[in-house]
Amino acid sequence: MRYPDITNALLDWYDVHARTMPWRVMPADRKAGQLPDPYAVWLSEVMLQQTTVAAVRDYHRKFTSIWPTVADLAAADDADVMAAWAGLGYYARARNLLKCARQIVEHHNGQFPEEYDELLSLPGIGPYTAAAISAIAFDQPSTILDGNVERVMARLYDEHTPLPTAKPVLMSYAERHTPTTRPGDYAQAVMDLGATICTPKSPACGICPIRPECAAQKAGTATELPKKLAKKPKPTRHGIAYIARREDGAWLLETRPDKGLLGGMLGWPTTEWDAAPVDMPPLAAEWLELDAEARHTFTHFHLVLRVQTATVPMTATPDRGTFRPANLFSPADLPTVMQKAYNLAAATLRPV
Ligand code: ADE
Repeated sequence: MRYPDITNALLDWYDVHARTMPWRVMPADRKAGQLPDPYAVWLSEVMLQQTTVAAVRDYHRKFTSIWPTVADLAAADDADVMAAWAGLGYYARARNLLKCARQIVEHHNGQFPEEYDELLSLPGIGPYTAAAISAIAFDQPSTILDGNVERVMARLYDEHTPLPTAKPVLMSYAERHTPTTRPGDYAQAVMDLGATICTPKSPACGICPIRPECAAQKAGTATELPKKLAKKPKPTRHGIAYIARREDGAWLLETRPDKGLLGGMLGWPTTEWDAAPVDMPPLAAEWLELDAEARHTFTHFHLVLRVQTATVPMTATPDRGTFRPANLFSPADLPTVMQKAYNLAAATLRPV
């Protein structure tokens, strides 16, 4: 088979097996000339970085119903967007989302650029996202190399060089297959193949449309690929979260600084997170420590948060954070680790 034959086999497979996604235009409609809304595609691709399709669906629906266009998003309050993103993780993505929406409104007339290089110059849009938007939303022949495509290419060519060293060679394989007709469908076809058939652990080689061409299938090495360099073990950091509730039911919350972890997100005041936390409550009170901890894993470390709670009088004046009335507080607005701390504390705090 020549490269175009492999590409065509993938496109034929996609015509039948494309997954439906809220932001996706299915192949029959694309063939009839319909392209997806670039705003919906951009939003989906930013959300899908490090996050599964299953987790993204509801968030995508929520964002597009609250903010149906990029101009609506650009005009949103930062705090509302951060709250809507809560639970998806990697919060720099949400801050960049807002910056990008505002640049598109201010400098691009509210229209997404179509070209890879122009997309790449926007906040939060790296090589992967620029390629994905230009291919999927505008049918440009850009080559996407995400984790799915890396796995498909490593197996198709039985490439044993470990990641990330293998990225350039896998990119060169992926480029060979990128067609000039239907590049948007092709990009989605390879990703769908990687997500549903050429899966990491038990690939369904028996039903793979490019099985006859797959070098790893012939060599019996598919499940070993792609090889990856050993990752450094993650250190554990420790902190204390302070959950104070005022007599009227208001919660003491703070917006974390834009720079740094959970930047721009609402949360409980905490100590610094390091080897051994130094107690620094946000106000003087009789703090009680729970005998359970909130645990969460970030990209580069594990966090163990001890949780202290206090019920405080109306006269309490905090050094950090502000009291938020109970009717304006929803734990769903918090990042996951802060929700975990809340769930531990909620049972112990006196109802008001
Ligand atoms: N993963 C990330 N983006 C995707 C897309 N557009 N189609 C399928 N899987 C994806």
